[in-house]
Formats: sequence, structure tokens, C-alpha cells
Amino acid sequence: DWVMGDYIAEAVAAIRAQVGNEEVILGLSGGVDSSVAAALIHKAIGDQLTCVFVDHGLLRLNEGDMVMDMFARNLGVKVIRVDAVDDFMGKLAGVSDPEQKRKIIGKEFVEVFQAESKKLSAAKWLAQGTIYPDVIESAGKGKKGAHTIKSHHNVGGLPEDMHLKLLEPLRELFKDEVRELGVALGLPREMVYRHPFPGPGLGVRILGEVKQEYAKLLQRADAIFIDELRATLATERDVAAGACTEADIGKSWYDLTSQAFAVFLPVKSVGVMGDGRTYENVVALRAVVTSDFMTAHWAHLPYELLGKVSNRIINEVRGLNRVVYDVSGKPPATIEWE
Ligand code: XMP
Repeated sequence: DWVMGDYIAEAVAAIRAQVGNEEVILGLSGGVDSSVAAALIHKAIGDQLTCVFVDHGLLRLNEGDMVMDMFARNLGVKVIRVDAVDDFMGKLAGVSDPEQKRKIIGKEFVEVFQAESKKLSAAKWLAQGTIYPDVIESAGKGKKGAHTIKSHHNVGGLPEDMHLKLLEPLRELFKDEVRELGVALGLPREMVYRHPFPGPGLGVRILGEVKQEYAKLLQRADAIFIDELRATLATERDVAAGACTEADIGKSWYDLTSQAFAVFLPVKSVGVMGDGRTYENVVALRAVVTSDFMTAHWAHLPYELLGKVSNRIINEVRGLNRVVYDVSGKPPATIEWE
């Protein structure tokens, strides 16, 4: 619509005025905020923007390829993809404490990003997808606490040692405005309305020690769950079962949940396949409904949907032979398992 068109024209002019002919770098995470920031800045200054995408092996299935397709191929944005999987896995070996894992992933992310940025010596600006709620949060808690949760997401805390000026074109926008802006800039709706994904990624969804082999199994199980949630629309029967309301009929279960994902449990259980026994790992499915992520209800997904997801995971992902569904509310449980 024209209001958004005006907004984009103004934002583009402001970025051009701010940056002039200098070079900008941006850490692209695949998340909504950094993606929208990248699309907007690219519209303003084109090739003066270089994005760095760090693949730590703990992202969603094919996330790296998706980011490259969307930004490099479709939008013509300069994106450097850094394959840091071995680095991250090496640093995480033998570590099972959740907070320790978060710290390692955050620190490693900053190091990889910084090393890559140093190669772009012409850069004078660091762009971030900071949005208005992040700004408020920072003001309230002071710099340190503010970005601990999202630090590896938006690369907060980097500029001090990097001597870069900060470019934060989304600072005045709320999340829903960022999403509208993303759609107006041509990003796929499906991407812009994705569920939130934590900075440490699958690192906190593989309980205990993180191994690449576990990450690969989990990525596939998670992708099946998400595919089926997207493909299954709420029906009259779900209303009758008390799972949703009349107004939800025809919406996908992906859109009816606030966050949904699979969790890898480093526990083996016995199964049967053909005439043989299997002894393989378990995945838990987690789907919640919440408005603020501070409290949450487990989603009343239709049994048919859960059954289909379970069958597909067990049949398609060798190494997983049991699927369970998490029926814990927050509080007392958290949304993530770590
Ligand atoms: P919990 O598990 O605390 O999660 O109920 C609430 C929301 O926060 C997300 N989350 C994180 N996001 N880094 C992030 O960027 C993290 O370390 C982290 N831990 C939890 C979680 O996915 C949920 O949306």
C-alpha cells in the first residue's frame, strides 16, 4: 500500500544520507529482523552492503541454502556464507550445560563474524536489525543484560572493538511493522511470518552434548513437523474437539501456533522394525500458543496431525524410533527444553 511505499522511500533516503558512499556490513542470521534490515539497506545502497551469514550447523534444515537463494540469487545482495560448522562443533564437544553451550555459541559467533568482517577492511558501518522492543529492553536493563538473550542474533556488542558506526534502520519499528515492511520489500510472506528461532538454534534443542550427527537427525525431524503444520488446516472437527475456534477454520496449524519445533533427546529406546529390534533416539515435539512468550499453553494439535508427523519421522529418519508430544505449560516448564 502507499503508506508503506512512502515509508520505504523515506527510509531509503535516510540510509543514503547517513551512509553516503561508505561500505556497510551486516550479520544475516536468517531471522526476520536481520533479513528485513538487509533488504531495506540493499534497496538503499545496493552493492555498498555486504552481508555475512555464519552457518554453525545448528540452523533449521537447508537454512543456509534458503538464505543464499533468497538474498544472493533473488535479490542480488552480496552475501558471504561462512561454513563454521567444524569450529562450532569442536568448541561444543564435551559440553552439556545449557548456559555454557549458549555462551560458547554466542562467543564463537562473534569471533567468526569479526574475523570475516576484518577481511572487509573498507567497511565503515555495522548494520543491525535492532527493532524498537530491543531498544526499550536495552534502556531498561543497561547494555550488558539487554543483549545477552539475543546477542548472537543481532550481533549486539560488536562495534566497540570493531570501530564501526552503527546503522539500525529498524530501530523505530515494532515486530508487526517489520514484517509488513519485509513483505513490501519483496521478502516471501512465509519467511517474514516465521516462528521465532533462538540464537543458539538447535544447540539448545539437542539436550546435553551437541553432536553434528544429532543435529542432522533433528533438522530432518523438525522439518517434517513444520511441513505438516503448514500443510494441515484447522477444520470443523478440530473446533468440535475443542482444539480451536470457529474463526480458526481454514488457517494452518503453523499459523495457529506461536512456536513449534522438535527436540532431540539423548536417550535410546527399543523399537521393532520388520523382524528386528531397533535401539534408537527419541524426539519430542513442542508446540505452544502464547502472546508474549512469558507464559504459554501447549497447543492442542489434532491427533491425526500428531500421528502423521510421528509416522513420517519414524519412517523417514533412520536413527529415530520414538516420538513424544510435550504437554507442559509455561510456567512451570519453559518453551525450550534448555
Ligand atoms: P523459554 O524457553 O525461556 O523461551 O520459555 C522463551 C522464548 O525465548 C526464546 N529463547 C531464546 N532466544 N536466545 C534467543 O535468541 C536464547 O538463548 C533463547 N532461549 C530461549 C525461545 O525460543 C522462546 O521463543
